[in-house]
Amino acid sequence: MAPEIFKGLKDVYLDTTKSSFIDGQEGKLLYRGYNIHDLAEKSTFEEVVYLLFYGSLPTQQQLQDFDDTLRANRRIPDEVIQVLDLVKASHPMDALRTGISALAAFDPDVNDNSEEATIRKGIRLTAMGPTIVGAHHRLRQGLEPVAPDPNLNHAGNFLYMLFNEAPDEETNKLLDVDFILHAEHGANASAFGARVVASTLSDLHSAVTTGIGVLKGPWHGGAAEEVMKMALEIGQPENAAEYCRNILDSGGRIMGFGHRVYKAEDPRARHLRDRSRALGDKVGQPHWFKILTYVEEEVMVPYRSRGIFVNVDFFAGSIYYLLNIPDDLFISIFALGRIPGWTLQCMEQYDDNMLIRPLLEYAGEMDLEFVPIEQRT
Ligand code: ACO
Repeated sequence: MAPEIFKGLKDVYLDTTKSSFIDGQEGKLLYRGYNIHDLAEKSTFEEVVYLLFYGSLPTQQQLQDFDDTLRANRRIPDEVIQVLDLVKASHPMDALRTGISALAAFDPDVNDNSEEATIRKGIRLTAMGPTIVGAHHRLRQGLEPVAPDPNLNHAGNFLYMLFNEAPDEETNKLLDVDFILHAEHGANASAFGARVVASTLSDLHSAVTTGIGVLKGPWHGGAAEEVMKMALEIGQPENAAEYCRNILDSGGRIMGFGHRVYKAEDPRARHLRDRSRALGDKVGQPHWFKILTYVEEEVMVPYRSRGIFVNVDFFAGSIYYLLNIPDDLFISIFALGRIPGWTLQCMEQYDDNMLIRPLLEYAGEMDLEFVPIEQRT
């Protein structure tokens, strides 16, 4: 009897988790039991990372100590800067992947997969990731990397290292919320990739490197960049209908819509929608939001009955664009936010491990005669 094939592992439960709860029909997301709306409105990225790593919200003192540790771990070895310089012509995601991989050579815990060591490495990778992206961005412009500033929070320091200028409070908070929204999302494709690596008892650096590689694709983390490209090509709201019709009629997809799990609106999208509108108004460029709203509220309405709504990436690109962040850095920002989530998924995998090794049903030819090469025509 032919085995049942679960193509794309759709609707397959791989394991149990205490990381995040996702109700795709309701559009509900909890990290460690806490609603994403509360975390986006009331928390900080640093606090959310603590929550993800340790499973409960920190006290004031715990958060202070944790934040101090993050700030103290931002510097990357000079050798890694040299590696980034060698690959400065590459896409920022490739540079981040290379940089994280290179950090393994300098991490004292690299081969220790205990929970304590994985948290220590997760803290270091979370803290150093922005330094890699910032340094690569400077090097590719022929500029010196900007050293991390321990007086700034995680989001503020990242923007400071990119632009050599500390952001205002509002911009800082915008990126902080963006990092919170991207921090963790169950067994999504990149976390699954990281878990597969961890399931062989390979190390966290390898798993995070894999996560970055998986995230890079336009059907996963690459959508934000594609959405903004689309908005730029549309140019004006009145062009949106025809532009999208052309894509959809030829069997294409509108980036930033649809999700494997959410068949209602992705709960993370609302926080970026409101902020995209506010930022557009603030900087005197409201038309990007108008274009995106037109796509959402006019063009894509019929798709709602098929469970296709905006996802987290739909408004993210417009925010990064309005913050003058180059479009090839959009996915890297997603990746920086997701490092804690990948770490947590690996911690769970190590904690109760079983090698992840699905099967493929063979559909090729059988028992062919091997013809020596000189006799083949
Ligand atoms: N635009 C138009 N149609 C779509 C879209 C879209 N964005 N997404 C799905 N559909 C259609 C498909 O064409 C397909 O139609 P069909 O049944 O007529 O063939 C149907 O909906 C189901 O699509 P699947 O690909 O089977 O659904 P799946 O769950 O595998 O897709 C995915 C999820 C890959 C995210 C998809 O919605 C997509 O490609 N979206 C655009 C890319 C994107 O925004 N990715 C970011 C996802 S969020 C994240 O990773 C953080």
